[in-house]
Amino acid sequence: MNTDKTSTQHWNTIYQSKNENEVSWYQEYPKASIELIKELNLPLSAHIIDIGGGESHLVDVLLEMGYTNISVLDISETALQKNQNRLGEKSKLVNWIATDITEFIPRQKYDLWHDRAAFHFLTAEENVKKYVSIAERTITQDGFLIMGTFSDNGPTKCSGLDTKQFTEESLKKVFERSFELKSFKYLDHSTPFNTIQNFLFCTFQRK
Ligand SMILES: C[S@@+](CC[C@H](N)C(=O)[O-])C[C@H]1O[C@@H](n2cnc3c(N)ncnc32)[C@H](O)[C@@H]1O
Repeated sequence: MNTDKTSTQHWNTIYQSKNENEVSWYQEYPKASIELIKELNLPLSAHIIDIGGGESHLVDVLLEMGYTNISVLDISETALQKNQNRLGEKSKLVNWIATDITEFIPRQKYDLWHDRAAFHFLTAEENVKKYVSIAERTITQDGFLIMGTFSDNGPTKCSGLDTKQFTEESLKKVFERSFELKSFKYLDHSTPFNTIQNFLFCTFQRK
């Protein structure tokens, strides 16, 4: 994906023109992500960032679980604003970061980096390298990276953009320099349009 203004505009337009349940990636409850996060037994003070969080309800559930250091990053300010509007007062408890992930300059480290369906839009090798290098610098020693992407049986496009598809082997290769693959699973996501998208979720740990 380009790191220019076109990408920002593309995503802002989507979030301006659609309700949250009118996009293919909508989930009322982010079940797979929450199950994987629970397995990590992180302390409630853990620093958690959701990359490309958009309007996801992941932040709602993390707040309900009692996590106190949550950040949500997205290229679209519109998405973040809509997410804040949904959360109301509780949004003040969250750190909102509007930036292209490939240009992210982190001010702190994170114990958990979560990404569902943002990384797979990085189709240019140069941007994948930037993403990996930022994750390497930003995730704490022994910290975790949970990555949800389209699988090799998943879509090749989403919201009009090309996407990459991964197997656990190909995703492992992307991150193996600094991360150890701890577990993976394939699962079907049912879209609001009654179609199925096959996802791969991998949990990595910073070496
Ligand atoms: C398919 S949506 C998934 C949203 C959310 N993670 C979820 O599971 O509901 C992809 C999200 O990634 C964001 N995104 C796309 N490219 C990005 C980039 N280069 N940097 C940061 N966010 C990006 C989009 O704005 C959008 O919110």
